[in-house]
Amino acid sequence: MKLILLGAPGSGKGTQAARICEKYNLPHISTGDIFRENIKNQTPLGLKVKAIMDSGNLCPDELTVDLVKDRLAQPDCANGYLLDGFPRNLVQAAALDTFNAPEKVLDLNVDLAGIERRLTGRRSCPACGNSFHIDFIGDTKNCPDCGAELIIRKDDNPETVKERLSVYSKSTAPLVEYYEKQGKLIAINGDQSIDGVFAEIVKVLG
Ligand code: AP5
Ligand code: MG
Repeated sequence: MKLILLGAPGSGKGTQAARICEKYNLPHISTGDIFRENIKNQTPLGLKVKAIMDSGNLCPDELTVDLVKDRLAQPDCANGYLLDGFPRNLVQAAALDTFNAPEKVLDLNVDLAGIERRLTGRRSCPACGNSFHIDFIGDTKNCPDCGAELIIRKDDNPETVKERLSVYSKSTAPLVEYYEKQGKLIAINGDQSIDGVFAEIVKVLG
């Protein structure tokens, strides 16, 4: 199964990706996670994209497409993949179609008015990659899953969230029509409980 998880910043892509990948045994490929890992390890790629990510803008297409192309060529992607955060614009979507086109695109629909709260209240685990919200975990300092110290993502401040939402509306939202025309788009209501969203996804994927 070749799947894309489309959706605004904070729509729950990472949260649902973890569950989908476990159930359907797919590799979870998040370009955001790959970039953050490179920044943490201060690799040449990380140094190149740090300022861009901190500002909430998109990293260069060519670099991002090459990275995904290499990743999808790995043996664990032979039976499919779940892409989270890629493609992010029409250029990236057209490129993906030339080397490993998706079969289904799940579009997580959320009310953008609630996004700032979701993101500014997010706590991320740098060790296991899971995300939580202070509404559920309170002021817990350690990851409920693995115990590592939780962090606040550098781009989860109100100003950068605003920029990320504007980039989403301008560059990423047109992908809805792109995949609709290909007959691949499946709309999912992202404004329900985490379990509720996952149940809807399982229902459509079978
Ligand atoms: P990326 O890491 O992809 O971030 P994003 O798209 O902004 O999305 P997030 O990871 O913030 O949100 P999410 O949808 O995963 O939500 P989550 O499940 O965590 O990209 C970051 C940056 O990297 C970009 O700005 C760009 O610079 C660069 N980049 C990445 N890909 C790129 C590309 N292809 N091209 C160019 N540049 C690229 O949930 C959010 C919060 O909500 C959590 O606290 C969670 O607990 C909570 N939550 C989740 N579901 C629910 C629910 N149903 N109800 C209530 N709360 C919920
Ligand atoms: Mg994410």
